[in-house]
Amino acid sequence: MKFFVDTADTSEIKELAEAGLIDGVTTNPSLVAKSGRKFSDVIAEICELTPGHVSAEVVATEYDAMVNEGRTLQKIAPNVAVKLPLTMDGLKACRTLTNEGTAVNVTLCFSANQALLAAKAGATYISPFIGRLDDLNIDGMELIEDIRTIYDNYMFETQILAASIRNANHVKDSALAGADVATVPPSVLRGLINHPLTDKGLAAFLADAEKAGISV
Ligand code: E4P
Repeated sequence: MKFFVDTADTSEIKELAEAGLIDGVTTNPSLVAKSGRKFSDVIAEICELTPGHVSAEVVATEYDAMVNEGRTLQKIAPNVAVKLPLTMDGLKACRTLTNEGTAVNVTLCFSANQALLAAKAGATYISPFIGRLDDLNIDGMELIEDIRTIYDNYMFETQILAASIRNANHVKDSALAGADVATVPPSVLRGLINHPLTDKGLAAFLADAEKAGISV
């Protein structure tokens, strides 16, 4: 399973990339807006820091404008994946950009049928939003499972990118359900490292080493 980090915070991305913990980055207009910087500058910097795909989202809603924005974004760096919303125009733009060899992440997916259409349109990634479904008391993880079954039934190569992840259980359950990628906020990613028994065990080992005068 690949890990992407869901942020436009370049210092977070730098540290996590240097630690070898991330394979890519997802952003959205809300995340980039928080940086207060020029959109293309932020995406360019993230692309340099990141080993894999960096999703950058269009803000146009009509086909021609979406394709133009997608082409502009793709020119920023070769590892840009153009993020398009799951609308009719978005799916048409997905097919056009995919045919041009551009990686596309179809976002804001809330149903298995939407995911089926994105795969038909040749998407590189489909982003089902788990947390936002859970917020409505709809089981987001069931959506990941359904998409996995459908994609396997028809051997679609579109990768399932579990998005809107809010906690560690979302990460584990996405992995169990067979998501190809999880995009995780930095705080959740860092939280995965921690376990109280790890801290307790380490403290005991270090205390014993000190008592015995062990040094390496
Ligand atoms: C993914 O690409 C989205 O940017 C993100 O996961 C949305 O998460 P949210 O529902 O917590 O805003």
